Amino acid sequence: MTEDHDVFRSAEYGPAQRSPAQHPPAQPAPAQPAPAQPAPAQPAPAQPAPAQLAPREFVPAEFAPGNSLPRDTPGRNARPPAAHALPAADVDALYQVVAGRRDVRNGFRPDPIADDVLTRVLTAAHQAPSVGLSQPWDFIVLRDRAVRERVHALARRQQDVFAAGLPGPRARAFRDLKVEAILDTPLNIVVTCDTTRGGRHVLGRHAQPQVAAYSTACAVQNLWLAARAEGLGVGWVSFFDERELAASLGLPAHLDVVAYLCVGHVDAFPPAPELALSGWARRRPLAWPCTKSSLAAAGCPAGSQPACSPTPCPRSGHWTPRRSRSPASGRRR
Ligand SMILES: Cc1cc2nc3c(=O)[nH]c(=O)nc-3n(C[C@H](O)[C@H](O)[C@H](O)COP(=O)(O)O)c2cc1C
Repeated sequence: MTEDHDVFRSAEYGPAQRSPAQHPPAQPAPAQPAPAQPAPAQPAPAQPAPAQLAPREFVPAEFAPGNSLPRDTPGRNARPPAAHALPAADVDALYQVVAGRRDVRNGFRPDPIADDVLTRVLTAAHQAPSVGLSQPWDFIVLRDRAVRERVHALARRQQDVFAAGLPGPRARAFRDLKVEAILDTPLNIVVTCDTTRGGRHVLGRHAQPQVAAYSTACAVQNLWLAARAEGLGVGWVSFFDERELAASLGLPAHLDVVAYLCVGHVDAFPPAPELALSGWARRRPLAWPCTKSSLAAAGCPAGSQPACSPTPCPRSGHWTPRRSRSPASGRRR
């Protein structure tokens, strides 16, 4: 058992996750379309219990009766912005999910994922924003062991390629890391992007074709967050030569693979990124990426702009401050 694994089992992880057996049985989808707006009048329970969630049918708001586009009418929006906030408990729950989402590679359980849970998670993914509403994604749910073994072999090969290019100490540290859980989870989800979806005139894509892939990444993030709320771990694997992966999955040429995800129930969620817990990398404080206008005149909310940002030494792998450029000369200080 690795050191990581020991950490993950510690009480730091908070309350134990429900075992898959405690997940609710599949329920029929509600017959009526969901209301277009959440009803803020009723305070939600402090902790939304996933066990009570029923599968929700996705009904685009534009099809809900009586809905029309909100118009920008000058002077009409007199209410303060907070008037449209969700109830405080819901806001807390959202931030809790965002903060508690983790990339998981260790501690997966073999238990199957209930169909209704998977449907909710994919529904959330499918509600992502997309350029010109092109929804360029497809979700391939991969359970077949033989296919996953092929994919696993590809990932192993790329890990070797990566390790071979690392300096000694870093290569040794990499050997202790687990970077995929392809065969450990009951299923994998391949998220693809069709850059041609919607034809030639997709609104917003003409000058930046890459926004189709960005849209698909938004779907992945929705999936990841919904999975966390449902108690499912997700591990994103990118140790692939994309053409090899596409060939191994038999994908048509017009589909790009954006994400390969290992999804399953877990023993626990790490309290911080696994790479941070293992010492491989560190999280940057919020103040560092926050700027007022330009990177040259970087400011941050707390006024604690860093003089340097750390980066691991490529040879030793140790964390050292990176020298910043002097604004006047452009030379390194
Ligand atoms: C595009 C993308 C590709 C990733 N590929 C891998 C991967 O191949 N193997 C791995 O162990 N983690 C992978 N990760 C997970 C990151 O290492 C992880 O998100 C990061 O360390 C932060 O941890 P957290 O997601 O738990 O907050 C990937 C994440 C992203 C967004």
